[in-house]
Amino acid sequence: MTLKEDNYFIKKVAVITGGSRGIGRAVAEALVARGSKVVIGDVLDGAGQETVNELNAKANDGEKNAIYVHTDVTVYKDVITLFKSAESEFGGVDIAFLNAGVINKPDFMFTPLEDEADDFLPDINFTGVVKCTRVAALAMARRGGGVITITASCAGFGGPFALSVYNASKHAMIGWTRSLGMLKDICNVRVNAVCPHWVETDMRHKITGYQVDPYGPFVQESPTVKIDTVVKAVLTLMEDPNRNSETLMALPPDVIRAQPPIPAFPEQSNPAYDKRAVQYEKDALEYYKSLLDPALKRYEQL
Ligand SMILES: NC(=O)c1ccc[n+]([C@@H]2O[C@H](COP(=O)([O-])OP(=O)(O)OC[C@H]3O[C@@H](n4cnc5c(N)ncnc54)[C@H](O)[C@@H]3O)[C@@H](O)[C@H]2O)c1
Repeated sequence: MTLKEDNYFIKKVAVITGGSRGIGRAVAEALVARGSKVVIGDVLDGAGQETVNELNAKANDGEKNAIYVHTDVTVYKDVITLFKSAESEFGGVDIAFLNAGVINKPDFMFTPLEDEADDFLPDINFTGVVKCTRVAALAMARRGGGVITITASCAGFGGPFALSVYNASKHAMIGWTRSLGMLKDICNVRVNAVCPHWVETDMRHKITGYQVDPYGPFVQESPTVKIDTVVKAVLTLMEDPNRNSETLMALPPDVIRAQPPIPAFPEQSNPAYDKRAVQYEKDALEYYKSLLDPALKRYEQL
C-alpha cells in the first residue's frame, strides 16, 4: 500500500498507553496503517508483544513499525522509560495516546474499606494520566511540539451509581484536558480528550459479566459505539491543528460530536476583572514559558 505524503501521520512517532488490546490497539493499527511508528506501553506484556509482532509483520524488510515497553502508568520510572524508548528507537515523540484505564466493580460502594483497593483505580485513571501527560509534554517540547489525546469517556459527563469511582475519574480527565489549553502557547503541545460511550472491549465484557449486580444485565442491553468511530474521533483530534483542550464524544453507533464546556458564568464578570484576566493570561504565559527550560534540562538528565 502506498501512503499519501500529505497524510499527517506519516513518519510520526506515537506513544500509546494501554495499547496491548481494545481501543489502544485499534488506534495503534490505524496509526501504523497511516505511516506512523508506534511505541506501546502496557502491563499486559504477552498481549502487547503479540500486538507489536503483528504490526511489525506489516513493515517493510528490515524496518520496525512498533516496539513494546512494559509500563505501569502509575510509576514515573516506567513512564519516563516508555517515552525515552520512543526517542532512542524512533528519534522522538510527536503523538501520545494516553488511554490505559480500568473500571470499578459495580458494587464498589459497599465493598470492604481497604486503602489499596480504593487507590487502585484513581492511581491509573487519574494520576497515571497526569504523570504520562507531564512526561509527554516534555518529550514533545524537546522536538518542537506534538499532540496528546486522553481517553476519557461519556462517563466524564455523568453516569450511574454503579460506576461512581470510574465516573469521577473520567470527570477528572475532562477537567484535566480543559485546564491544559495554555500548553499549546507554552510549548506547542495540544491536549484533547476522546469520550466514547460503551465499546465492545474487555472492559465492557467485565461489566456485563457481573450478573448479580443489576448494572451488568442493564449494560448488556446498552447500545455501543463502533470501535472504528472511536478511532476516527481520536485521529481527528490528533491531526486537526485547531483542536485544543477539546472533548469529543464518540456515540452509538457512529456519531462524533464535540461537547463544549458550560459558558463562563456572567456573575463573575465585570469590566475591571475581565481586563485583569486578560493581563493574567499574558503574565502566566511568560511565567510558565520561563519554567520550561529548567524542566527540560531536568528531563534530559533522567
Ligand atoms: N470499552 C468501553 O466501553 C469504554 C468506553 C469509554 C471509555 N473507555 C476507556 O477506554 C480506555 C481503553 O479501554 P478499553 O475499552 O480498550 O479496555 P481494555 O481493558 O481492553 O484496555 C485497557 C488497557 O489498559 C491497560 N492498563 C490497565 N492498567 C494499566 C497500567 N497501570 N499501566 C499500563 N496499562 C494499563 C490494560 O492492560 C489494557 O491493555 C480506558 O481508559 C477506558 O476507561 C472504554
